[in-house]
Amino acid sequence: MQRINTIEEYQKEYKHSVENPEAFWAEQAEQFTWQKKWDTVLEWNFDEPNIKWFVGGQLNITENCLDRHLKERGEQTAILWEPNDPNEPARKISYKELHTDVCRFANVLKNNGAKKGDRICIYMPMVPELAIAVLACARIGAIHSVVFGGFSFKSLSDRIHDATCNIVVTADGGFRGAKDIPLKSVVDEALETSPSVKKVIVLKRTNTNVTMKSGRDAWWHDEIALLGGRGEDCPAEIMDAEDPLFILYTSGSTGKPKGVVHTTAGYMVYVDYTFRNVFQYNNGEVFWCTADVGWITGHSYLVYGPLLAGATTVMFEGIPTYPDAGRFWSVIDKHKVNIFYTAPTAIRSLEAMGLDFVKPYKLDSLRVLGTVGEPINVEAWNWYHENIGKKNCPIVDTYWQTETGGIVISPLAGITKTKPGFATLPLPGIQPALMDESGKELIGNNVDGRLCFKFPWPGIIRTTYGNHKRCKETYFDIYKGYYFTGDGCRRDEDGYYRITGRVDDVIKVSGHLLGTAEIENAINQHPDIVESAVVGFPHDIKGWGIYTFVICDHERKDTDNLKKEIIDTVTKYMGPIAKPDKIQIVKGLPKTRSGKIMRRILRKIAENDLENLGDTSTLLDPSVVEEIKIGAIK
Ligand code: PRX
Repeated sequence: MQRINTIEEYQKEYKHSVENPEAFWAEQAEQFTWQKKWDTVLEWNFDEPNIKWFVGGQLNITENCLDRHLKERGEQTAILWEPNDPNEPARKISYKELHTDVCRFANVLKNNGAKKGDRICIYMPMVPELAIAVLACARIGAIHSVVFGGFSFKSLSDRIHDATCNIVVTADGGFRGAKDIPLKSVVDEALETSPSVKKVIVLKRTNTNVTMKSGRDAWWHDEIALLGGRGEDCPAEIMDAEDPLFILYTSGSTGKPKGVVHTTAGYMVYVDYTFRNVFQYNNGEVFWCTADVGWITGHSYLVYGPLLAGATTVMFEGIPTYPDAGRFWSVIDKHKVNIFYTAPTAIRSLEAMGLDFVKPYKLDSLRVLGTVGEPINVEAWNWYHENIGKKNCPIVDTYWQTETGGIVISPLAGITKTKPGFATLPLPGIQPALMDESGKELIGNNVDGRLCFKFPWPGIIRTTYGNHKRCKETYFDIYKGYYFTGDGCRRDEDGYYRITGRVDDVIKVSGHLLGTAEIENAINQHPDIVESAVVGFPHDIKGWGIYTFVICDHERKDTDNLKKEIIDTVTKYMGPIAKPDKIQIVKGLPKTRSGKIMRRILRKIAENDLENLGDTSTLLDPSVVEEIKIGAIK
């Protein structure tokens, strides 16, 4: 399969993809294994929205990730797993072994009643069995819904409930640094309010004591043993191109997370194309994406993208600072990683630990570096470039979203001239548009606006699970005829794109997208809290931190205890990733006469920009602002 090799080829391919998108994507789709070729490449309108790629085609994505590679690279390592504890041996799973493991677990799922179209929730640590479970679902046509292991029982139960999952795949626990995360007990708590779940399959990882509910819970290894050495093959279910492949929840402006739905063929073609071109992947290279499979980056560029391309994909169970802040660099040397893809937050936190953690390592296997998930500041970009890439590795700052399925704006490694802080140019097939607030498209360069796309690409979101109206209203109604990302963006004098951040009520904390309403809902579970308001504030390491204003129903003199209780409440109901950094207890919140909180004012206070609060005359009680200003936490 060809890939773009020069900037001229990029320009030519881009032009072709815009002038004749159907022909362009059909060419990309040719190389895959299809049970039946498509009849029509694309049917679409952005009004409903109704987007269908490769209509009439039939396939199974796992045949393309696994079976297709067996002849040529059956013995090659598919998954290279690095455990949390560096003293535990790494695992190398070849394409052949992965094929067998996926088939076996697919048969386990079937024995537990799973069938095509079922929703299966996967709540697991970063072990190979997580990827195996994902692929096993795809093998039998069940829709996987992976929930990040850092989410708490309430977030898990909301997600299980929304998708009416009938099976949960989990583990007794997971290792993360010095901690042992009790996953199964979180599942048990979540299932108290999730009647749809009939079976729970539990992998043994930490040997933590767990309760197994008879008739509902079964051990992974017992279920494999029940196959009695059989089950090494499992015919791939034949899927229509537009059959859902997975649901992945992402935060939105309301308290309820959205189940983003991706379908089979378009997602496959898009992640494969972007993986090979953005990273300029060469056969035989070792690719390491540090994201958890619980996020879209893990779906697209740890599991599906690399496996579709026949790469060796590294999966790391631990955290960047365990046993010390040199762990990433030691793993790169140990496994001779060629392409390394991580988040700006991780880079900033490791930069802050100092170069002594980098110096012991050669890092000479590296060829390409990538970042994803949030804007990367120039200082972190330079640090990454000089100290990790040794000025030899192009950096791809890849912009995309859960909803886009794969990377949409990014340099092609070594081909596109980079500019620190810029995601640079749209990939072939991607047609960006910047809009002003009145909904007019801004033409030309040197403009700032809201980032939209005006034509579908194969990886675009199809719907939000169980609520198509929400998909339409969130992404397609705001600017008629366009998909709206929710991001602000600048197009500079060279036509390069720089993402300036979210323009809605979600914040990017350490690269994780969190809804302010969702955090407020969690805080409000505390019995003493009457009301709360959450906004973001710039944070040196995390990008954005969480600033919360809370109103208590009676005076609590032990404010330190109260703050700790609030943090514990958020951890309990949402998970540790949503812990507030600053909590200010207030008597009132700035509200308009219609009762709406004026977040603009709270954002300014959180940013410590007290002099520029703007017009406060429409507030019901402007005096609350003075009180909040006095108590503001620096
Ligand atoms: O605000 C943008 C930011 O992350 C958002 C999408 O978050 P999520 O769906 O969790 O997916 C993250 C991984 C793809 C975007 O709306 N974002 C993502 N990549 C970048 C970015 N902001 C700036 N630069 C990026 N490279």
